[in-house]
Amino acid sequence: MCGIVGYAGRRKAAPLLLDGLKKLEYRGYDSSGIAVENAKGEIQAVKAKGRLIKLIELTSGGENLDGTVGIGHTRWATHGEPNDVNSHPHLSEDGRFAVVHNGIIENYLELKSFLTDKGFKFVSQTDTEVIAHLLEYYFDGDVLDCIRKVLNKLSGSYALGILFNETPDVFYAIRKDSPLVVGLGKDENFIASDMPALLKHTRNFILLSDDEIACISGTKVVIYNKNMEVEEKKPFFVDWDPETAEKGGYPHFMLKEIHEQPKAVRDTVMPRIKDDKIVLYDISLSAEYVKSIKKINIVGCGSAYHAGIIGKYYIERVCRIPVETDFASEFRYRSPIADERVLTIIISQSGETADTLAALREAKRLKSRTLAVVNVLGSSIAREADDVLYTHAGPEIAVATTKGYTTQVAALYLIGLYLAKTLDTIPQSEYEEQLKSLKNLSDNITKLLEKPEETQYLASLYYKNKDLFFIGRGMDYASALEGALKLKEISYIHAEAYPAGELKHGTISLIENGSPVIAVAVDKRLFEKTLSNIKEVKTRGAKVIAVASNENRAVENEAEHTLYIPDCHPLLAPVLTAVYLQLFGYYVAAVKGCDIDKPRNLAKSVTVE
Ligand code: AGP
Repeated sequence: MCGIVGYAGRRKAAPLLLDGLKKLEYRGYDSSGIAVENAKGEIQAVKAKGRLIKLIELTSGGENLDGTVGIGHTRWATHGEPNDVNSHPHLSEDGRFAVVHNGIIENYLELKSFLTDKGFKFVSQTDTEVIAHLLEYYFDGDVLDCIRKVLNKLSGSYALGILFNETPDVFYAIRKDSPLVVGLGKDENFIASDMPALLKHTRNFILLSDDEIACISGTKVVIYNKNMEVEEKKPFFVDWDPETAEKGGYPHFMLKEIHEQPKAVRDTVMPRIKDDKIVLYDISLSAEYVKSIKKINIVGCGSAYHAGIIGKYYIERVCRIPVETDFASEFRYRSPIADERVLTIIISQSGETADTLAALREAKRLKSRTLAVVNVLGSSIAREADDVLYTHAGPEIAVATTKGYTTQVAALYLIGLYLAKTLDTIPQSEYEEQLKSLKNLSDNITKLLEKPEETQYLASLYYKNKDLFFIGRGMDYASALEGALKLKEISYIHAEAYPAGELKHGTISLIENGSPVIAVAVDKRLFEKTLSNIKEVKTRGAKVIAVASNENRAVENEAEHTLYIPDCHPLLAPVLTAVYLQLFGYYVAAVKGCDIDKPRNLAKSVTVE
């Protein structure tokens, strides 16, 4: 996720662009840049690695850049380390086009080789640069026709701002799957990734539809649809306060990020599936090495550790390789057994967790091959691991991870399926079925998010409880662990997860009349066993909330309430279970009035041991 802005009007563009980027820094903050165009059509671009303040200092607050039309970008790196060269805007070789981009161009590698064959020289490692060169390649006098041709070549998600030096008083904006709004001012017009960046200038906005081209000058905004016909758009008025607007209208970043999961999972999975095969273009696990693996260690903290347990169950099922999971803080103290034939998977959203970084270093000391699953490009763990598989969740602001977790699990599915295919331990039909379900995960999350009232209602029943129990078997146990963590870290209610079969070995003594027990009963293979555990707690007075798959409807006879996940491959169900339990934890904390985005005692990234 990155932030983009654009301006055309009567005022100096650069200071306004920087001001807009300040409001969008939460969308990306590893580097930034602006490009402005003066009346003579000269495009000046300034870019800087690091926080936005670096760019502000470099441009004296924008004062040393002339021009009343411009575009700007604050980056959340997905392709190419955060540095000056990889920062946006990207310019065409002839310097006539400048582009800022938010999103992922899924076919950038093939476009890059096409353009390289045509003689274009690339200076960055980004996907975005292909757009700048494609504009130059297709321009033959008609800039709108040129933009349309380029859009027809792109697959993936994009919100674009484009400067062209032959039209110095106009800039162009397009979106597909990435957010972009047009702000209508007085003798000036704007674009931004979302409205907070513009609320101080205007409250009148137009929303672009996918692949419409907006031609924006200070005096007018003309929008062309795919057939290049002018689209009349009715502006709408926004009365949000800036604070609420920064969260896209959601009351908390956490709820916003829960709702970003369809896109986050899609952006993590889809660029790695080509012609119904998994292509992990960003890691170099050769077939020869994969066949030599004798054991896999998976290491992480908190939710990352829970994702690792899902990964363990999954990889052992599809690859038949032994997998051990460790809390990162424990790993290096147990004299772990590792060598060249052990693959250590290191999971970390931030890529900066001290315990996890220490575990990575211990694994490397033992000569284990290390593969990091990380969300933040260029973070310490990403830099030190032998290979990195990036999740494309975008910046996660809320301390309690949601999209960070589900994209970690999705990444582990990709790795597991890739290994299984390489080892030939999965029948082709099963591989195809799982791949199909993996591609549908995003839509299934959307289905879940369309009916929050179920979890809102349950939260209203149980928010006063002091203790909640979560139980499950197999992968459902890992889901129970993550559900318990979500609830306790934001609502401060004591919640513990247990393997459903473990309760009777002591803990069941805590169950009394009215004790709420959340039973994750999704796995059909283990359903009868889980059902008998549900009956055990019920006979002792527990009130059971079940999370189940549609094939396990018998649970309704025992549970007070049942939440059903959409149909999916059973091994991929934990991603959907997680969304229900995130919503439950969120609504409990919301009804309690907790500080959801910044819970007491917690930090987003624990960089101390
Ligand atoms: C999860 O909601 C917590 N914020 C915490 O458990 C987190 O998952 C853990 O600290 C690991 O963080 P990382 O993924 O950035 O390494």
